[in-house]
Amino acid sequence: MFNDFKNKFDFYIRTKTKFSKKNYSGNINNPESEYLFEILTNYFPIDFQESISVLDIGSKNWAYVKGEYDFFKNYSTQLILDGVEIDAYRLNSNFYSRYEIAQFYIKNLQGVNNEINYYPDNLLNINKKYDYIIWLLPFITIYPLQKWGLPKKYFMPEKLLKHAYRLLNKQMLIINQTESEMNIQKELLDKLNFKYEYLGEIKSSSSLFKEKRFGFIIKK
Ligand SMILES: C[S@@+](CC[C@H](N)C(=O)[O-])C[C@H]1O[C@@H](n2cnc3c(N)ncnc32)[C@H](O)[C@@H]1O
Repeated sequence: MFNDFKNKFDFYIRTKTKFSKKNYSGNINNPESEYLFEILTNYFPIDFQESISVLDIGSKNWAYVKGEYDFFKNYSTQLILDGVEIDAYRLNSNFYSRYEIAQFYIKNLQGVNNEINYYPDNLLNINKKYDYIIWLLPFITIYPLQKWGLPKKYFMPEKLLKHAYRLLNKQMLIINQTESEMNIQKELLDKLNFKYEYLGEIKSSSSLFKEKRFGFIIKK
């Protein structure tokens, strides 16, 4: 109860003030993007198309955007890559917001044939259609959402999943961590009667994550 009050208050303040240090600089070729490129290559088969649109849900600071960009650019001439993050103005310990950091990661990927957008918004406000959707670690139980600092009114896994499905043209990749979250995710997909392929444990050469990860591909 008190924690939710604190989360609501902090979330309200940071969303209104949008405070951040400016001009973040980092390493675009980082282990998170290498990880993502590797798992997309190994677990997400797609065909070449002239133009592809992709949505990343819950992008955080989008440090891994280059992994998505490099993968989807291999299959298209024109790429629209959008990220949506409800808590974009959360500050890192270095006083840069996720929004500001994301601006650094996307700026070198923009080009004539590429449109990369980071939306500081709720997924529920996105209404474009996408060929592919990537959703890494959705909040499928309430505890991690509250620990992450979000007000509990934003815990709505079923509503968000239904909305993402409405936006989808072709394929969506969902990655969960821990077997118990994977089981809850599976129950939800079954309840909604979505057509999906269970990928099992997602193996990679990365040592970034201590929890086991599991994947699903939802198909339209
Ligand atoms: C567990 S984190 C995963 C972050 C990132 N995808 C990763 O793998 O590092 C889940 C993210 O989803 C965001 N999120 C939660 N609900 C959302 C919503 N309704 N719309 C957009 N983003 C949301 C959270 O703020 C958080 O950044």
